[in-house]
Amino acid sequence: MLNYVHLTPKRIVEELDKYIIGQDQAKRCVAIALRNRWRRQQISGDIKGEIIPNNIILIGPTGVGKTEIARRISRLTGAPFVKVEASKFTEVGYVGRDVESMVRELMNYAVSQIREMMIEEVRPEAEKNATEMILDILLPRSKKMKQNRVSDNAEYDRYLRSREKMRKKLLSGSLDDKEIEIEPELDTTPNLEILPGPGLELLDLDFTEMLTNIFQGKGASRTIKTTVHTAWKRYIETEINRLISKDKLIETAKNSVEENGIIFIDEIDKIANIDKQGGLDVSRSGVQRDLLPIVEGSKVPTKYGMIDTSHILFIAAGAFHSAKPSDLIPELQGRFPIRVELNSLTKEDFERILIEPENSLTKQYQEMFRSEGVELTFMLSAIREIARFAALANEKMEDIGARRLHTVMNTLLDDFLFEMPSETLKSVKITKKMVTEYLNPVIESEDLSRFIL
Ligand SMILES: Nc1ncnc2c1ncn2[C@@H]1O[C@H](COP(=O)(O)OP(=O)(O)OP(=O)(O)O)[C@@H](O)[C@H]1O
Ligand SMILES: [Mg+2]
Repeated sequence: MLNYVHLTPKRIVEELDKYIIGQDQAKRCVAIALRNRWRRQQISGDIKGEIIPNNIILIGPTGVGKTEIARRISRLTGAPFVKVEASKFTEVGYVGRDVESMVRELMNYAVSQIREMMIEEVRPEAEKNATEMILDILLPRSKKMKQNRVSDNAEYDRYLRSREKMRKKLLSGSLDDKEIEIEPELDTTPNLEILPGPGLELLDLDFTEMLTNIFQGKGASRTIKTTVHTAWKRYIETEINRLISKDKLIETAKNSVEENGIIFIDEIDKIANIDKQGGLDVSRSGVQRDLLPIVEGSKVPTKYGMIDTSHILFIAAGAFHSAKPSDLIPELQGRFPIRVELNSLTKEDFERILIEPENSLTKQYQEMFRSEGVELTFMLSAIREIARFAALANEKMEDIGARRLHTVMNTLLDDFLFEMPSETLKSVKITKKMVTEYLNPVIESEDLSRFIL
């Protein structure tokens, strides 16, 4: 995650270039929109509220990088991000998801994101406190000491010395499996209410175990037996929950959503009115109408309070094969002032996509082969041949853009992927001849290619 100040449009494009080939116009627009948000945040006074986000519609066929661009910018900025499919929404009053759920989802995302950050902030202190709590159990203070009535300093010094010794042992891990008795920590449960999905996992609390322990404890005894290690972990969670202020968490998350949130609405063309039978598609324009106030800026109720959507950045995307952006209701069009077309990808693009991105397919497969002790290399001529086959398959069948590279590559390497690990296979060099021999029969046979590629 980069610091926002350094995220100039040029810098953003540079970062996107590491992952996405071509589509320069789209990268540029997104970069400017992001920077404009930062610019707005620097402004003080009334005019700040007047500046509306540069919502964008990315127009382009499938598999050319629309989603990838949006996902990368959210990673880059660390901004809360959700991707929703416009076609999944139905008008209020009908069965299906209501459009406001996208804002709730975004807020949930931000809460767990901020929570994770806060956890890391307080973890050192929580660990320190947990250690002290365990030491208190392992070496209980005498009643006198607790009441601060120790007259004998020597006794206190002795206690502190053993405590330090015990601390060393504890931190070295040699006490991990020792059994101790702790009080059940049921008071942590209320904290869970504010946590969405991922947050729950973070807590890593074993409730079943806790409950069993409690019920097995014969009435009077309110302690549970466990190991030092488990108790330590449990105390850390308790302390983390105690140290994180719920109010601050929600406030920070809300701010992050309202100032930096990004909502990616995929398949926006699916809710455009295609006026086939001379009548409007009521349900589709209904969804658009529901969408409008959110994009225009309104307050959406969530379990964390009202979220103002005025400055959330909306990036919509669609293939717009039959529908056009002008088929959207005019008010909605007005809220997406920036339209960018993404190009379909050529054979030359495929060559670059195979090699250049930091996460390119060839690099991914090289790593996978390496995990089996096999060195995988590609001749440049082989890469060209793979790109040629991918372009050809897109032409012969359906154009699925760069996604075709995945199927082609997988078909090509299938035998190796099955053979590994192998005593005799230590390196694989993919040549042009191999690519042609593997892929030609597949592409030649209509049936084969339809199912495999
Ligand atoms: N221009 C590109 N450069 C590098 N990789 C790309 C490019 N376009 C697509 N890809 C890769 O192809 C896959 C699909 O891309 P993406 O999800 O962005 O498609 P999309 O344009 O959103 O398509 P759809 O309309 O089907 O949602 C991803 O793995 C992505 O990394
Ligand atoms: Mg997509």
